[in-house]
Amino acid sequence: MAVILDGKTVAQKIKDEIRDEVSRIRSAGGRVPHLAAVLVGDDGASQTYVAGKVKACEYVGFRSTLKKFDAGISEEKLLSVVKELNDDAGTDGYIVQLPLPGHISSQKVVENINPVKDVDGFHPVNVGRMVKNLPSYISATPFGVLKLLEYYKVPTAGKDCVIIGRSDIVGTPLSILLSRKAEPGNCTVTLCHSRTRDIASFSRKADIVVAALGQPEFLRGSMIKEGAVVIDVGITRVPDPASPKGYVLKGDAKFDEIEPRAGYITPVPGGVGVMTIAALLWNTLLAAQRKIYS
Ligand code: GUN
Repeated sequence: MAVILDGKTVAQKIKDEIRDEVSRIRSAGGRVPHLAAVLVGDDGASQTYVAGKVKACEYVGFRSTLKKFDAGISEEKLLSVVKELNDDAGTDGYIVQLPLPGHISSQKVVENINPVKDVDGFHPVNVGRMVKNLPSYISATPFGVLKLLEYYKVPTAGKDCVIIGRSDIVGTPLSILLSRKAEPGNCTVTLCHSRTRDIASFSRKADIVVAALGQPEFLRGSMIKEGAVVIDVGITRVPDPASPKGYVLKGDAKFDEIEPRAGYITPVPGGVGVMTIAALLWNTLLAAQRKIYS
């Protein structure tokens, strides 16, 4: 029976800490942090995420602004919105929700965000600073994984960690964060991907397995060793006519097979995913307090 790494509890604790800090700022006559979000098009998952972010801002007492555009907005117009947000002294941080429609280059948009306001931590300057161990915004999902390991005091130093999936917003940054000289960290990390021969031969030896490939229930019970720590980063909407929403959320790990064998496991939903909004709020507070770029 594995210990459940409960993201809801940890996210709530972080949000409450932020809320207390906002109260202190307000009572001292300061300006409350302001987060803006840019949403393009009507993708259901993106709308849900952004609505969650706005609601979380209300909870902690941040000011928030939502800028919505239809899917036909030109790249040029979107870049002018980004410029306005860069120039607006009243906005501490902002995000452009991804994915963007195919005619817009996400890379170009992200590269035009002022790194100082890039609370998603997606800009190459923030990624580079993270790699060089300089103060930077850590993007939401890697942040969520680190905070869960920290809260539950999961030992990481000297452990063998296998990360499955090399995306530039999860697997790749997490491989750097978990191998750096820090706590949590100090792991010996192996990054597995679509060209890895026999992923199970790596995952079976690992003390910590992070499944971050976006393939529902890829990681099976037989692919981990007894007592392993399993971090499930996947959240895929799998169609299910029997469910009221028409879909169910599935992780990248097959929970019912893994839970009896693992030492620790994150549930889906309620694990890493719920931590991501807390991460964004945390980064916005750092932005407002000029803690990363002074
Ligand atoms: N789309 C899915 N996750 C994220 C995120 O963390 N930030 C942004 N901007 N878009 C996303």
